[in-house]
Amino acid sequence: MPISTRQASGGFAGEVSGIDLGRGGDFEQIHRAFLDHGVIVVRDQPLTPDVQIAFSGRFGPLMGRRPSMSDKVLMPGHPEITILSNKKKNGEGVGIADAGRYLHSDLDFEEKPNLATIVHAVEIPPEGGDTLFADLELAYATLPDSLKRRLEGKRAAHTFAKHYQEVMAQGSKRKPLTPEQVAALSVTMHPIVRTHPDTGRKTLFVNPGHTTHVEGMEDSESQDILDALFEHSLNPEHIYRHKWRVGDTVIWDNRRVMHNAEPYDMERYTRHMHRSCVHGDRPF
Ligand code: SIN
Repeated sequence: MPISTRQASGGFAGEVSGIDLGRGGDFEQIHRAFLDHGVIVVRDQPLTPDVQIAFSGRFGPLMGRRPSMSDKVLMPGHPEITILSNKKKNGEGVGIADAGRYLHSDLDFEEKPNLATIVHAVEIPPEGGDTLFADLELAYATLPDSLKRRLEGKRAAHTFAKHYQEVMAQGSKRKPLTPEQVAALSVTMHPIVRTHPDTGRKTLFVNPGHTTHVEGMEDSESQDILDALFEHSLNPEHIYRHKWRVGDTVIWDNRRVMHNAEPYDMERYTRHMHRSCVHGDRPF
């Protein structure tokens, strides 16, 4: 069956069919769909960790261990895969139970944020646990020209500390970071409007989870601009809501979209996913 991509229902994402993720030969077409849509979905294809790692590695070098993350959430023998799960083994969580429950782009607070994220669904709750994506390329394209001019050449600060402090204040059960890890949560400046290195198109690069202020601006003006950008980005026309099914693999372009994993009833249901992340370049 030849590869085909159609617009996923209710959003900008592409649903790709006719591919075998275990076969390297299809990659050019998958990559084309990834650049065209920003989020692509492959249904009904169980993936072994080895196949997920090999496929993800076609996008670029994969992330493995990180000083800010416990090795316990990495898949034993496959540190390129992080387990996102509320399952427990011997009373201990096998993965990150509450990963990504806020609007963010992966590792945007680093000098070189993630290029792509690949998540494979192994177990899914019958309700809740959707992932929401906002297309920041479309959001930029539909901004008023006056606001586009105001953003020209401006940079914004990104830090994981913003989210970390918020979840800890809300009583998260996550293990607190060590003082060294907190000290390493540096602030990184990135252009508010970045140019996609592969498509040449412009996209907003700010998100409510990690972006704290616009460089060189008074706090109130900076907050007004960021609030306006966040509100505009969340216009329903810029959103794709992914309703997971077991066997789904969703691949997204962190240079173009932000995402939010929605909550579900963790006392009643299980959500178990395998995530691999691809290193990216410095935004320009
Ligand atoms: C994340 O990587 O932010 C979590 C995505 C998800 O679990 O849907």
